[in-house]
Amino acid sequence: MTSAHWDEQQAARYRAFQYDFPEKTLAGKTVIVAGGTGGLGAALVTLLAREGVRLVVGYRSNHQRAESLARAIEQQTGQSLTLVAGALCAPETRRAYLDQVRTLPGGLAALAGAAIFAGAPARTPLLELDRETMEASLQANYIGPLLLARDLGAALATTGQDAGLVLIATMQALAVFPGSVNYAGAKAALVHAARILATEWPRVRVNVVAPGATVVGMAEASVRSGKYDSALERGAIHRFGRPEDVARAVRFFLEPDNYLTGQVLLVDGGLTLRR
Ligand SMILES: NC(=O)c1ccc[n+]([C@@H]2O[C@H](COP(=O)([O-])OP(=O)(O)OC[C@H]3O[C@@H](n4cnc5c(N)ncnc54)[C@H](OP(=O)(O)O)[C@@H]3O)[C@@H](O)[C@H]2O)c1
Repeated sequence: MTSAHWDEQQAARYRAFQYDFPEKTLAGKTVIVAGGTGGLGAALVTLLAREGVRLVVGYRSNHQRAESLARAIEQQTGQSLTLVAGALCAPETRRAYLDQVRTLPGGLAALAGAAIFAGAPARTPLLELDRETMEASLQANYIGPLLLARDLGAALATTGQDAGLVLIATMQALAVFPGSVNYAGAKAALVHAARILATEWPRVRVNVVAPGATVVGMAEASVRSGKYDSALERGAIHRFGRPEDVARAVRFFLEPDNYLTGQVLLVDGGLTLRR
């Protein structure tokens, strides 16, 4: 007996060692990059713009940084970015992302997915933690990103097409770093929530990238100050992380129809493994 779902033509191609590895699969599609003007997000925006992806790029309030990224992308690739400003916790900001997608060629049907980089370092020592600092971290690192993923997932599910959502956590959500509770607790919650979201819509894949210490964005000052020098000197890592490392990992999860969902990819050069 043969399965009703068996594809004999495909089986014949594999017997003949014929495989399908399409390139530039996101060209002409739309992708949302929330927090895409920051140190890590801007590298993904650049990678996708070079591929010919239409980009809706979000940030909270730093208009100047957003405008200079848009100018740089225009100069480097000829692509113009669609910018969305505002905190992700606000429903009108989340609606604005989808409204902008609908104005672009192909509308919602052309949306291949989203990467949600928005977050805040939330560095508060344990003994100084209070309700306000904890709520601020939860809003920036958990509530806002999760609500946007929920809204986008629900919208993408209506298209019936394959799509990918990528949430950004941190190595601190997966390994214990003393003093990181306010940041790491919210990011760990995001990792778990992402895996639950991955069960929600059959064609919407939800994955997480967890960066280590990179030389840009919110980790730049710590790396520059020497905080991770000992990891380098004892060989736990052979170099500091770069924004391109994270961009490539996120692009990997955005690849259409890639058979990966509910996964967490740690991009830390081995730091948590060897420390
Ligand atoms: N850099 C690292 O080495 C590192 C390591 C591990 C994890 N991460 C994670 O990677 C993500 C990106 O980090 P990054 O270093 O690129 O940070 P970044 O340079 O500070 O950029 C953060 C981006 O998110 C936006 N944003 C912040 N809070 C927001 C909110 N409440 N609503 C909407 N947008 C908001 C910012 O907009 P504005 O500029 O307008 O504020 C900016 O576009 C974060 O989630 C972070 O936790 C970073």
